[in-house]
Amino acid sequence: MQIQKKIRAGPQKVIAAFCLVVILYFVIQTFILDTRQPRMHEKQYVVNNQTYNYNRQIPLIFIGGVPRSGTTLIRAMLDAHQDIRCGQETRVIPRLLQMRAHWMKSEIESKRLIEAGVGGEVLNSAIAAFMLEIIVKHGEPAPRLCNKDPLIMKMGSYVADVFPEAKFIFMVRDGRATVHSIISRKVTITGFDLSNYTQCMEKWNNIIDAMNTQCHEIGQKCLRVQYEQLVLHPRKVMSNILQFLDVPWDESVLHHEDFINKGVKLSKLERSSDQIIKPINMGALSKWASYFPKNVLKEMANIAPMLSVLGYDPFANPPNYGKPDDEIVKNTQDVQGNKSRWKKRAKELSLMKFYNLDDQTVETVSSYSKSLRIE
Ligand SMILES: *[C@@H]1O[C@H](CO)[C@@H](O)[C@H](O)[C@H]1NC(C)=O
Ligand SMILES: *[C@@H]1O[C@H](CO)[C@@H](O)[C@H](O)[C@H]1NC(C)=O
Ligand SMILES: *[C@@H]1O[C@H](CO)[C@@H](O)[C@H](O)[C@H]1NC(C)=O
Repeated sequence: MQIQKKIRAGPQKVIAAFCLVVILYFVIQTFILDTRQPRMHEKQYVVNNQTYNYNRQIPLIFIGGVPRSGTTLIRAMLDAHQDIRCGQETRVIPRLLQMRAHWMKSEIESKRLIEAGVGGEVLNSAIAAFMLEIIVKHGEPAPRLCNKDPLIMKMGSYVADVFPEAKFIFMVRDGRATVHSIISRKVTITGFDLSNYTQCMEKWNNIIDAMNTQCHEIGQKCLRVQYEQLVLHPRKVMSNILQFLDVPWDESVLHHEDFINKGVKLSKLERSSDQIIKPINMGALSKWASYFPKNVLKEMANIAPMLSVLGYDPFANPPNYGKPDDEIVKNTQDVQGNKSRWKKRAKELSLMKFYNLDDQTVETVSSYSKSLRIE
């Protein structure tokens, strides 16, 4: 009996010791974590007498891509989700990131910064603080905050380093449609010569190539989404996107047009605002084909090799993007059969003041073009 008891006490002691070690481990871990992330780093945003905490660890959502690639559509769809707020382009965030990129590119400037004690970590925490303040405070609080400044994708892997829990949605669209839209809507983007289709396609190719590389570098936290597939099959594509973001399904995302100014805030000065007041439709998929100069179309595979890389046939004008869902066929008939009703709606939202709504006869006041220039 005695011997048996002793033998049984052995394992009990081991288990007790093990439990003690586990408890100690958690106590120390909690203590260390607490000192590593003091409450000071937690910032607060007070709205309507409610306090919201935020810091660099919140799971932000970033939407990027070449301008005119459906970034506004996807952000409007996400804005319709009750847990998500994106809002209008902030414009200052990509500029700040670009400024940093300039500093880093210059060897002498980087050295000067380090000599001055402005090392990587100092810069990163300052840039993160700036970005967070803008993202958090330029709109309503929400469980998931999102930012759509398309060109941010060029600096995507840096942003991913600064915000370790962030996820990225990289919008990709047939470059020919993007360029036609940039030219016909006179969207001034630095580096694009709006009088030259070839030059614009080359520029598109360079930017999308750089962004695609960034998305690869980010890895699993970057999801590439094709605009055409989003438009043709919104339910399927959105369901993938929400899964990727760890957000529950919300039927509202398929009816963003019902939430304009009720969750989906518009900027009167953003070029896409008049388009996203309409339901998802195919109006903008293939229009480009009849506008491109023939000689440019013939050379397309050489001018923009990224088309093939992204799965767009450079010799098909236009390619067959796929068969739309029934809902989308209906929406498209509604938008095309009720042009004056949709124009009236834009007028009600006072989006008409700033641009002519017809894609083919855009007349933009040149001073607006200048003030809207995207760097
Ligand atoms: C805000 O909260 C404070 C304290 O909880 C309370 O005294 C005050 O009445 C509240 N104000 C509003 C507008 O709800
Ligand atoms: C358009 O751009 C291409 C490539 O950048 C250039 O070779 C061509 O000369 C330009 N055409 C005109 C009319 O400026
Ligand atoms: C135009 O709008 C009306 C009212 O919403 C709708 O009943 C009709 O089907 C639409 N027209 C087309 C061609 O879809």
